[in-house]
Amino acid sequence: MEIIIQPDAAAANALAARLFAKLIRKKEKCVLGMATGSTPLALYRELIAMDLDWRKVTTFNLDEYVGLAPEHLQSYHRFMWENLFRRVNIAKKNIHIPDGLAKGIPVFCAKYEKQIRAAGGIDLQLLGIGTDGHIGFNEPTSSLTSRTRIKTLTPQTRKDNARFFGSEDAVPHHVITMGIGTIMEARHCVLLAFGKNKARAIAEAVEGPITAMNPASALQMHSKVTVFLDEAAASKLKLTAYYRWVYDSKPDWQKI
Ligand code: PGA
Repeated sequence: MEIIIQPDAAAANALAARLFAKLIRKKEKCVLGMATGSTPLALYRELIAMDLDWRKVTTFNLDEYVGLAPEHLQSYHRFMWENLFRRVNIAKKNIHIPDGLAKGIPVFCAKYEKQIRAAGGIDLQLLGIGTDGHIGFNEPTSSLTSRTRIKTLTPQTRKDNARFFGSEDAVPHHVITMGIGTIMEARHCVLLAFGKNKARAIAEAVEGPITAMNPASALQMHSKVTVFLDEAAASKLKLTAYYRWVYDSKPDWQKI
């Protein structure tokens, strides 16, 4: 894992955006894994401002709430459309987001996995992290080899996401999420975390044991992960001086 600590979220997002832009410019038909929530918003704004050519880019989103129609204000379809897709020249047919209204969920999930494989796999997967260590909506105790499937949200996640829905009661209980095994097959994972409330989950994921109790810790087994943090999210890590030294001493060819 490469741990990059920046003074604030804006600086971290600007750097992460450069990684995405570099890939979009270099690989015409790249496949991106997209995330939702508060964390990726500034990164999406950076990418929009870069005026990249998205015509041949294919995307797969991590997750969606079961029971929410694409036009529902809190659906991740709507989130992606408002915050990224309607502002870039991506082709609609290249956008994939789990269908919250899918009738046969297992069949839908198997098809989603197949579509990812048919696209050639995910080149760059964007990830946020839950306060409980979830990636996608893979809650604690998720199988570390899981595939796209239905999951039940923990009370903690429903509480964390109540801010979007107005009340905790309105937050759906079920979601469709890429599995940890699915995420682990992406060629490069970029994990973003900002703010003090992510510090514990980040410390466990990066420096703790690999455990299904912190699903993000599975990324320790991935060969290419870049973690972008602000100072607050990095505040519970032990080896911060080392991470900073490694980053500051990089040869030019390794820089983003
Ligand atoms: P957040 O969610 O970006 O809204 O904090 C992250 C996540 O739950 O993965």
